Amino acid sequence: MENTGIDVPKGLDKVIVDTTAISSTDAEGELIYRGYHAIELAEKLAYEETAYLVVYGKLPSKDELKEFSGFLSERASLDKKSDSILREISSGRPKIIDSMRSTVSFMHIEEKENDKVLLEIAAKMPRISSDAFRYSRGTDTLPEPDGSLAERFYYLITGKADKKDARYFEKLLVMYMEHEFNASTFALRVAASTLTDPRSAIVAALATIKGPLHGGANSEVLEYMLKAQNRDDARKFMEYKLSRKEKVMGFGHRVYKKVDPRAQFIKKELLELSKAKGRKELYDIAIEMEKEMWERKKIPANLDFYAAIYMYLLGIDEAFYLPIFASSRCFGWTAHYIEQVSNNKLIRPSSRYTGASGLNIRKGKE
Ligand code: CMC
Repeated sequence: MENTGIDVPKGLDKVIVDTTAISSTDAEGELIYRGYHAIELAEKLAYEETAYLVVYGKLPSKDELKEFSGFLSERASLDKKSDSILREISSGRPKIIDSMRSTVSFMHIEEKENDKVLLEIAAKMPRISSDAFRYSRGTDTLPEPDGSLAERFYYLITGKADKKDARYFEKLLVMYMEHEFNASTFALRVAASTLTDPRSAIVAALATIKGPLHGGANSEVLEYMLKAQNRDDARKFMEYKLSRKEKVMGFGHRVYKKVDPRAQFIKKELLELSKAKGRKELYDIAIEMEKEMWERKKIPANLDFYAAIYMYLLGIDEAFYLPIFASSRCFGWTAHYIEQVSNNKLIRPSSRYTGASGLNIRKGKE
């Protein structure tokens, strides 16, 4: 049997599968959201303003922003039934991302229109993350806070109402928000292309982001980073991993082969944050690891590498690292769901069969 399809590289490496007007990346290290440099957005705009831009394709007017922010804060909490489901799921102490995925499957959503359903899910992510963490540890949940979206999120995961640190956190949220056809977004687009409902498509994305090659990398970075006491340890660690041909989480990227612009932006912010906190030792260790990896393998640090130390210095428990990434990426997923269904074609590739042939049952039994 001949398969007349087109052979593409494994992992769809460098294959352009569709167009998108949401964001673009390039190998030289550029990241654009809806025509604007993502770094400039992080420096100048609030998290909710960038989310509006990513979802609706234009910067909001004052009134649009007010309405959008109002919607996100009104829908931030869970109804009683969803809350009791989350409490039940979390008692077994799963990873927060698993509680998030299960709660999204069950939770009550008032809205009917796709964009509103998706935004209602995004609005509840900080609350789900915070409560999943506290239920699993048997501690009290936190009251719904006031403030901007980033300030409320920062409070819910740290218990701290600190505007300065929340602003650092906000910049990271913007960096995590959108990244064209990354694995979780592609999974969501595959689901959306079957015309499944938006909630189910988010569940597919959450299941995909969990993997250590994607969103699960940031907590692994912190684990090895905290073991290094100084630059010498940093060099030895890299030497050990690379001599055994093991991957070091927080390095490498499918698109950015020279520089991940998000990592470099957060690295710059991290230097400022480290000085402000009087804790520059982790920054120095990170610089050494980055240098060592580049000299030996020419592989750049990715966003998760610097994000892990950044979140650590912001007092964020490692259990939240992936939930933070997923919560912010929810706005990117929202935009991609809308874009996919507005100009849909079922995503269904073919495969080349390499299994056995010509077997028959009687022969197989002999
Ligand atoms: N440590 C050591 N070697 C590496 C690493 C790494 N982190 N990443 C890639 N390599 C090597 C790899 O071993 C291979 O070497 P060789 O050609 O000698 O076999 C070569 O570089 C190409 O690697 P690849 O895995 O085939 O490249 P890819 O484009 O498929 O990989 C990646 C992209 C992100 C899966 C990979 O770099 C990786 O596994 N990194 C660690 C996990 C990680 O940090 N993920 C977070 C990515 S950024 C956040 C996000 O968007 O999810």
